[in-house]
Amino acid sequence: FRIAVFASGRGSNFQALVDAQQSGALGGEISMLVCDKPQAPVVELADAANVDIFAFQPKDYASKEDYEREIAAELQQRGVELIVLAGYMRLLSSSFVEFYSGRIINIHPSLLPAFPGKDAIGQALAYGVKMTGVTVHFVDGGMDTGPVIAQRAIEIQEDDNAETVAARIHQVEQKLYYEVVSWFAQGRVALNGRIVTIKN
Ligand code: GRF
Repeated sequence: FRIAVFASGRGSNFQALVDAQQSGALGGEISMLVCDKPQAPVVELADAANVDIFAFQPKDYASKEDYEREIAAELQQRGVELIVLAGYMRLLSSSFVEFYSGRIINIHPSLLPAFPGKDAIGQALAYGVKMTGVTVHFVDGGMDTGPVIAQRAIEIQEDDNAETVAARIHQVEQKLYYEVVSWFAQGRVALNGRIVTIKN
């Protein structure tokens, strides 16, 4: 089962997926990293893990369609079956999302539909919610609006701040994401309208 990870930054989720592949818990193979920031730390992590890298600068292309066409060719060449967004800070075009419909997932640091978009942890703290968490969802044409696959909650305590909440969120993300990918590798994820079920 071949997976491509799309990421733009630090790469803690990417690394957790690599570790899960190495321990056998992923049930699949990370065939490539796609990164829109060639200087990002995640590129070094992929290099160290011997994962193929497609890194590009969007400004070197006339349009999103141009670089997405190259990405699609790389994905096809490797027979990628699932696209895993892990801190990819760019919206995919609607034609790309439609072409890969049901085969792109994202992880978001809130309990969607609360706090979509950027700085979900800051949004949750500013709102004053007492619980937040992590959502893994299918990607559709909107911003963090696709069908929910899995969620995990954490409590926000009075002495929490953006750093402490982020640290706990990241711990939860790193355990949840590879597990969800393993469900895909096992062919257990079914989508019916907006409703996702995980088969035994
Ligand atoms: C994660 O918090 C994820 O939920 C969000 O972007 C962040 C990526 O972190 N979509 P990292 O690059 O995996 O460390």
